[in-house]
Amino acid sequence: MKPRIAIDGPAGAGKSTVARAVAKELGLAYLDTGAMYRAVTVAGLRRGIDFEDEEVLAALAAEIDLAVEYSDDGQNIIFLNGENVTETIREPVVNRHVSLVARCPGVRAVMVEKQREIGRRGGVVMDGRDIGTNVMTEAEFKFYLTASLTERARRRRAELLAKGQTLTLEQMIEEIAARDKIDSEREVSPLRPADDAIIIDSTEMTIDEVVSLIVATVTRGNAGGNT
Ligand code: DC
Repeated sequence: MKPRIAIDGPAGAGKSTVARAVAKELGLAYLDTGAMYRAVTVAGLRRGIDFEDEEVLAALAAEIDLAVEYSDDGQNIIFLNGENVTETIREPVVNRHVSLVARCPGVRAVMVEKQREIGRRGGVVMDGRDIGTNVMTEAEFKFYLTASLTERARRRRAELLAKGQTLTLEQMIEEIAARDKIDSEREVSPLRPADDAIIIDSTEMTIDEVVSLIVATVTRGNAGGNT
């Protein structure tokens, strides 16, 4: 079976970009699990629900039709009840609410089941927060990608600027720190490295360097770890 690769870490560490590039180089599928929590958030915003109400959130996650397709360039295309919401899930209002959705146990149960089903097929790179610790504990390779808070805020800000959204670095630091706090302090599957994860601090590294490091580790591992 082709390898399963888990890439976890805090917001803005570059996980999605790295995971997609690794999947492409190794000929594996790519699943952005954060996008799934984002799609539930979009559904909740449209219905005007109370994001503190866990029962409503869980019912919503169970009820919506969430589908992930793969574009030719390896991007995930996310469909919510048949509508392509790939762009919508990246809006700032979604950023502000998604941690509240992701901390809800009922929502996680539904999402994790879908993710495990994809993981069971093998040959996949999955990025998220709990992939190595919960979704694919049996993954052949686990990485925990991080960077300093300021660097992560800088990267996220640059991404948003490219889309025409202007936020100050201070605002970005605040937003990311708030998300990190909810993600790492929640009761169910908090953000933390798996015991057997390789930790990569990318503060001083380029995306290409991180991708090369992961690809080399996986390739060496497949060769029996003796090269
Ligand atoms: O990686 P991202 O920014 O798209 O993640 C969106 C939110 O979903 C973030 O608050 C963390 C949460 N998340 C999670 O709890 N578990 C995952 N496997 C992926 C994302």
